[in-house]
Amino acid sequence: MSSAKIKAVIPAAGLGTRFLPATKAMPKEMLPVVDKPAIQYVVEEAVSAGINDILIILGRNKNNISNHFDSVPELEHNLAGKGDHDRLQRVQASTDLADIHFTRQGEPKGLGHAVLRARSHVGDATFAVMLGDDLIDERDELLTTMLEQNARTGLTVIALMEVDPDHIHMYGAAAVEPTDTPDVVRVTGLVEKPKKEDAPSNYAVIGRYVLTPGVFDILERTEPGKGGEIQLTDALQELAVGDGVLGVVFRGRRYDTGDRLDYIKAIVQLAAAREDLGPDLRPWLKDFAADL
Ligand code: UTP
Repeated sequence: MSSAKIKAVIPAAGLGTRFLPATKAMPKEMLPVVDKPAIQYVVEEAVSAGINDILIILGRNKNNISNHFDSVPELEHNLAGKGDHDRLQRVQASTDLADIHFTRQGEPKGLGHAVLRARSHVGDATFAVMLGDDLIDERDELLTTMLEQNARTGLTVIALMEVDPDHIHMYGAAAVEPTDTPDVVRVTGLVEKPKKEDAPSNYAVIGRYVLTPGVFDILERTEPGKGGEIQLTDALQELAVGDGVLGVVFRGRRYDTGDRLDYIKAIVQLAAAREDLGPDLRPWLKDFAADL
């Protein structure tokens, strides 16, 4: 299937408790990373991979996200009246990006439950899931490779990243075997947020998935797992021991903007690389770091 036919699902209905109180009245996916909300980067990444039908799963404070992808006539009129075409273009960019749809999760019963809410929109087709608070630097490629692996094999493909073993308890962890392709592994088992001593490896599951539609039937019967939530990892574990799951090992830059420290790093790294802000920020950063 060409990626033009593949739909992307962006779950953005989590509670964002790690970022309270900022996320009391605003979803963490709307926190600005330099001058765009995190979720806009994720939508842009989908579009760069050739996907332009996107379903966002909304939770509480849902209007923040849907408003961002809507037009704002009074603001646009005002900027157009002032001849401020640069800012007008930035306001309109999020509206024109893709064909964006919304649905609600209702209650935050877990990532697996959020993905299941996409069933009627996705239908009987392979689809991508992209977590709305997980940014992959646009200079580093991931989703296209995952779509290629799915097109080649027909299998579910997940994204993995090697992490410090002391941090594996914060992720899903994968047991893997090598394949003939470098940085593509066969996933033989998955466990959600294991203790360091129980982890099958230090390969952590990160927020990009290319899923075959069989996952929906599995999710329908997946019982709440870790944290009382319906875990996507548990459904993927069933696929790993059944049809098979591939993992693409990502070695690029990734930012978990739902984590405060990673969020700060994301802003600094992305701003330092920007043409408009980098030339002023980089020397300031050097001075600042020298005084630490
Ligand atoms: P997280 O594990 O980051 O959980 O969710 P969270 O509840 O959003 O955040 P913390 O840990 O309390 O700070 C991973 C992804 O799954 C989505 C989140 O929005 C995030 O993109 N999610 C999670 C849902 O859409 N629904 C859920 O019920 C749970």
